[in-house]
Amino acid sequence: KRLILVGPPGSGKGTQSPIIKDEYCLCHLATGDMLRAAVAAKSPLGVKAKEAMEKGQLVSDDLVVGIINEALEKPSCQKGFILDGFPRTVVQAEKLDEMLKRRGVKVDKVLNFAIDDAILEERITGRWIHPASGRSYHTKFAPPKVPGIDDVTGEALVQRKDDTAAVLKSRLEAFHKQTEPVIDYYSKKRIVANLHAEKPPKEVTAEVQKVLS
Ligand code: AP5
Ligand code: ZN
Repeated sequence: KRLILVGPPGSGKGTQSPIIKDEYCLCHLATGDMLRAAVAAKSPLGVKAKEAMEKGQLVSDDLVVGIINEALEKPSCQKGFILDGFPRTVVQAEKLDEMLKRRGVKVDKVLNFAIDDAILEERITGRWIHPASGRSYHTKFAPPKVPGIDDVTGEALVQRKDDTAAVLKSRLEAFHKQTEPVIDYYSKKRIVANLHAEKPPKEVTAEVQKVLS
């Protein structure tokens, strides 16, 4: 399957991705995770992306289209993929169509993590992540077994620099202005499935499984 996950910051894309990934053996391409890794490594890509990310603005279409185009070549992505956080503008969606057309494949489903903005601040400010794996926890909703420690590796958890109430405002603004039109773009192609992303994680997983079965 070839899937796109779209939704505002904190809607649960990164939480559901590993579950869908394991169930369907897909590769998980999260542009946010890839950009954060580039920033941490201070690579040329990271240097270009850092400022916009810290402000909660989108990085340029060319940068993210470039990393996705490269990632889609990975052998593990040939049978299917989950795009988490891409495309986020209509330009990115059009470029993705071109990239997939060249490869003779198309998107099967767009999972829309629909949720009210009001719930998101608590989710975002309580999040802790394990950078190496992309696993995320929440102090209240999904606490690790030991506070501040990743369940699997025993390594330290960190908070994302953009996970503050102030930066969340910009991220939400970018979502409504630039990313909501992407949902309309795919609605016209009749491949959008709307999820109730405000429900508890397990219930959201059940909805995803129903859509994909
Ligand atoms: P990105 O990393 O994609 O961030 P985002 O879209 O803001 O999404 P989040 O990762 O914050 O939310 P999520 O839906 O994954 O939530 P999660 O599951 O972790 O992008 C970061 C930045 O990179 C952007 O601002 C931009 O600068 C740049 N960028 C990335 N892609 C780009 C692109 N294509 N174009 C341009 N720029 C781009 O859940 C959040 C928390 O809630 C966790 O703590 C979790 O445990 C908890 N939780 C999850 N589900 C539930 C639930 N059902 N109930 C209760 N708690 C829950
Ligand atoms: Zn995420």
